[in-house]
Amino acid sequence: MLDAEHLPLLSQTQRPDFDSASSIELPINTPEFGLEVIPPVCYFGARKAPVDIDKKVFENVKIKNNSDKKKKVKFYLPSDNERFTMEISDEEIAVKSGEEEQVTIYITLLCTTKIDVTFPIVIDNGTHSLMRICVESGLSTKLDYDEIEIQEMLGEGAFGAVFKGMWRGTAVAVKDFRTPVLDATVSKDVLHEIALLERLRSPYIVTFYGMVMSSKHNCIVMELAPMGSLASVLTKHRLTYNLKVKIALDCAKGMMFLHCNHVLHRDLKTDNLLVMSLDLESPQRIKITDFGTSRMITDEAARSYTHTVGTPIYTSPEILNNEPYSEKADVYSYGILLWSLYMQLVPYQDEFKNNFAIIKHVLGGNRPRLPPNMPPAYQDVMERSWTHNQTQRPSFSDVINMLDVIDSEVNCESTY
Ligand SMILES: Nc1ncnc2c1ncn2[C@@H]1O[C@H](COP(=O)(O)OP(=O)(O)O)[C@@H](O)[C@H]1O
Ligand SMILES: [Mg+2]
Repeated sequence: MLDAEHLPLLSQTQRPDFDSASSIELPINTPEFGLEVIPPVCYFGARKAPVDIDKKVFENVKIKNNSDKKKKVKFYLPSDNERFTMEISDEEIAVKSGEEEQVTIYITLLCTTKIDVTFPIVIDNGTHSLMRICVESGLSTKLDYDEIEIQEMLGEGAFGAVFKGMWRGTAVAVKDFRTPVLDATVSKDVLHEIALLERLRSPYIVTFYGMVMSSKHNCIVMELAPMGSLASVLTKHRLTYNLKVKIALDCAKGMMFLHCNHVLHRDLKTDNLLVMSLDLESPQRIKITDFGTSRMITDEAARSYTHTVGTPIYTSPEILNNEPYSEKADVYSYGILLWSLYMQLVPYQDEFKNNFAIIKHVLGGNRPRLPPNMPPAYQDVMERSWTHNQTQRPSFSDVINMLDVIDSEVNCESTY
């Protein structure tokens, strides 16, 4: 008798009645079964080299009838699913006594996966045997959701939740988009974010491992930032000035990379910087993430798309004013970020009744309150970055030059 485990992928309609009363399971290629299946396990060449995804590969299978009667043979392939699709040249064949016939089985792997399933070959006399499919795909950025072990939630944002997870022995972060397949605009945003992440490879940008794009799950699998967002770190740890300058430099380097590649982030804030380490000596402390709202600078339509989501705290005056904007809008956000990083506070917190009051304040040329103790060189970079007139703001390349000077002058002790 077949148990459910052997038929995990066969839909109810396709599944014949394999009750012990109607069909007896016999081990494949035994004399009792009467048929010889060569090969009894289909590897589709994957034993030599992994099979490419989205490529149809085949295996020819010979069915030899060693019995003294003609036999009708039926193949019940697993139904299409998120991991693979299968086809066969003939679903049913007749093999005369002492003769052999050939069928061709095709498989297309849809993601980076390992498949080990069986399906029944049924003989008209009420017996069946199980044929095995064993195939492994090459590495790609299309991942198998079943291979990802989802653990605790790390954060929640506009598009969905981010979870800690394990994928092939590696700790990862999984950004799971809520039911995006039902919403065409969201799924466009998801695909856009993925396309950007796939191309943008820099030590200051969170590394993209892959994605799951199936009818049930839409998620991005990326490098795990052990310490979470900078926003949360700023509330938990007191950082030295030296470390703040290093973090500001890491962020500016990541932003310069984005702008060099004609990508506007459009949502630069402490929540979208992920902390890898708080060590002054480590190669980098933070990485930029969340490209959900990013747009190509050259995309004219996007440039006039001024819809802002959530808080206006980091939003530049030109965007608040619905005016044309450029990559300098990110520089403005960076100026506000420098304030938040130095102060370890959320800008304008408890100062204004609502977002409109903040917007009025900013459009009036005002900015977050300056503390008396801010080092003048740091304050200078911050104030230049949030200049009202976007053309007067520095580029990230200028910011890096200014911060490099500060960094080399700061002694190792905190001056906070
Ligand atoms: N790679 C990661 N490692 C650790 N935490 C993460 C990671 N990615 C996101 N997070 C957490 O989840 C939050 C939301 O993620 P984000 O990518 O900004 O999504 P959203 O578009 O929903 O804002 C972050 O602020 C952070 O706290
Ligand atoms: Mg975010």
